[in-house]
Amino acid sequence: MADKTLTILGSTGSIGRSTLDVVSRSPGRFRVHALAAHRNLELLLSQIERYQPSVAVVYDDEAAHRLRQKRPLGGRVTVLSGMAGLVEVAVDPGVNQVVSGMVGAIGLEPTYAAIERGKEVAIANKETLVLAGELMVNLASGTGSRLLPMDSEHNAIFQCLGGNPDRMPHRIVLTASGGPFRDWPMERFADITVEQALDHPNWKMGPKITIDSATMMNKGLEVVEARWLFGLPPSRIQVLIHRQSIVHSMVEFRDGSTLAQLGLPDMRTPISYCLGWPERLPLDLPRLDLVQVGRLDFESVPETKYPCLFLALEALELGGGAPAALNGANETVVAAYLDRAFPFTSIPRILREVLGRLRAELAASTAPECLGSVRTVQDAIGADRWGREAAKALIAN
Ligand SMILES: NC(=O)c1ccc[n+]([C@@H]2O[C@H](COP(=O)([O-])OP(=O)(O)OC[C@H]3O[C@@H](n4cnc5c(N)ncnc54)[C@H](OP(=O)(O)O)[C@@H]3O)[C@@H](O)[C@H]2O)c1
Repeated sequence: MADKTLTILGSTGSIGRSTLDVVSRSPGRFRVHALAAHRNLELLLSQIERYQPSVAVVYDDEAAHRLRQKRPLGGRVTVLSGMAGLVEVAVDPGVNQVVSGMVGAIGLEPTYAAIERGKEVAIANKETLVLAGELMVNLASGTGSRLLPMDSEHNAIFQCLGGNPDRMPHRIVLTASGGPFRDWPMERFADITVEQALDHPNWKMGPKITIDSATMMNKGLEVVEARWLFGLPPSRIQVLIHRQSIVHSMVEFRDGSTLAQLGLPDMRTPISYCLGWPERLPLDLPRLDLVQVGRLDFESVPETKYPCLFLALEALELGGGAPAALNGANETVVAAYLDRAFPFTSIPRILREVLGRLRAELAASTAPECLGSVRTVQDAIGADRWGREAAKALIAN
């Protein structure tokens, strides 16, 4: 019998594909109960044939209808759709671990539902923790749900804590590659093309997180994620640029000892740690050769070059629904940038204006309640939506 039965949300994405690769490398240990995707029916179909899940979810009703017509596995797969379908596979009583690997705020409800049912949840979908991290962590401690950080930096910290987030670190250091433009002079930023922004030097990831890495909004979202996963105030979370992406993050303990987790930049390592937890799975991948790497560099982050990181820190300090609003605005702005609506340099400019508007509304007491505090999932969704609308209005202008 398999050790764990999995639901994989976002199976056709970069995280989902790497998760299934790890599953293939551990024959007999995992059973895939459900796969969930959005648009990539062709890949989903081939994953269904290979991993034989009982259920497949396609968010879009019409696409789900098309999948049903193809009768995958001779019609033995139940095809669900919409948010109800995502939630149903996240809470299925037969599932032990839910891999939250969808991109963006859409992952919030199924991830929350899985935590509510006390599941083990491997979280790659950082946006959900930015929207409602405090709610999720509190809920998990009530239901006994185990949150396993899959994002490489948070997974590194989790590993340094011996797989036990209750061991309080004194300080954590999140490392960042600096993205493709770390050596570019700022005068050239106005000419950055979408293709250049999508060409990450160290990691192969989905388009949204790749743009977030180029602006370093990704690291800002990760600070918020770390704040809730490890219960540390932002003043005890440091970000350093580490261009080799070999040290995935570090933990400093109260006696000053610092532990780091090192490895080649390959998401299958943190994924494997989450799937196997509390055990380490054998994983036959290229090994780190430090002589070949030669040197490990660390630099502080210049605010002028990476304003998005600092906007996220500002939102975290504002608290309440501000991080969710910034996340909603960022998703809207990144999607428009990928559609070539404006230059790269407009991304921080629009986001700064959204935060300015949020501050002004809070000061004038005209902001909706969800921006002041996030007490429910609906508040988080409301704050995220506020950010999207604010960004859309600015983009339209
Ligand atoms: N990639 C990495 O190395 C990495 C590392 C750390 C953290 N993360 C985080 O992991 C998450 C996923 O990133 P990614 O790079 O894997 O993104 P990605 O390659 O763009 O994949 C996104 C996945 O989400 C699915 N999806 C999107 N909207 C959906 C919806 N409404 N319903 C169901 N499925 C939906 C997509 O389905 P279709 O493909 O079928 O449209 C796809 O399977 C993000 O939150 C990211 O920040 C990623």
